[in-house]
This record gives sequence, C-alpha cells and structure tokens, in this order.
Amino acid sequence: MMAQGTAGLLRRGLNISKTFFIPLCGATQQHHTPAPHGLGRGFSSTHKLQDAPGESSSAEQVTVHFINRDGERLTATATEGESLLEVVVNQNLAIDGFGACEGTLACSTCHLIFEKDTFQKLDAISDEELDMLDLAYGLTETSRLGCQVCVKKSMDGLTVRVPMDVSDIRNQMEVGKQSKQ
Ligand code: FES
Repeated sequence: MMAQGTAGLLRRGLNISKTFFIPLCGATQQHHTPAPHGLGRGFSSTHKLQDAPGESSSAEQVTVHFINRDGERLTATATEGESLLEVVVNQNLAIDGFGACEGTLACSTCHLIFEKDTFQKLDAISDEELDMLDLAYGLTETSRLGCQVCVKKSMDGLTVRVPMDVSDIRNQMEVGKQSKQ
C-alpha cells in the first residue's frame, strides 16, 4: 500500500534525521534515546518510559480501551498526563509495531483513530503531527498520533482504534537510500 502525500514524504524526508524534542503531556519526563540507524523501538519490544503506576505522582487514573487490529479490546489503566504511546509501552500492550520512534514524530506507527466526540475535545494538533499523520496508512478524519495525545481525567472510558495497517516512514526512507546505492 502506498503512503499518502508524496510531496509531504519528500519534504519530511529532509527532516528525517532531525531530533524533535516533543513536549509530551507534562506529567512525564521526555525520554529520548537516539535511534541507531534510524530504528528505535522494535516492532515487538517495549520498555518503560516512566515510573510504574503507584511509584510516582498522585495523578488520576483513567481507563483507556484500545481496539487492536484483530478486533481485540485491550484495556489499560492510564495515568493522567501520560501520552497514549506511554500507556501502550508502560502497560506492555500487544500492539504490533506501535511507537517505533519512541514519540519523536518520525514514524506514524502510533496512529490511532478516535471517536468523533472525543476527537473534537482533544488538544490542538501541531504542524509536525499533521505532517507525520499525512504519511499514515488508513488516515481518517479523526486520526491522531498516540505519542501526541495526552491522557486527561475527562477521557476516562476512552476507546481508540488501531488502524489495520501501519507505516514507518523511516523504513521507506531506508529503502529509498539503499536503492540509490
Ligand atoms: Fe513515532 Fe508517534 S511514535 S510518530
């Protein structure tokens, strides 16, 4: 399947090695380890991005449901202030390939589809997120990147859907580079 927005792809290709310092949700510290050879979090590996629930703050607990590609509902107890990427990673949810760039806005593998009502209440989307979303497979009008959406108390009971297909722009750039060699 082809990614959408070829012009955007080329434009973003120029920024692919740039490190974005993402202002994640406030309650958690930014965790960024430069990805060796452009690959960060593996498609089947996870590691903690913050203290386990109960080790840190008195932030509110929020229940979040992820509908996985096979239709399975994965339910997590999130802490207010986490990003949805952090929820997936910290709770080791089995969503294949999710969050490959560790929230550095370089992959779009954290693409999630929201219900319309919830989507309209989310914080404003940044240009960088829009650019990366442009490359996501199965883009919808209520798509966002999980690494850029912060959990709030008002989201208790939130349900988000994981799109069927996943695209990691860094892999496409890698293939492009190799084909030129
Ligand atoms: Fe890569 Fe969100 S984790 S863009």
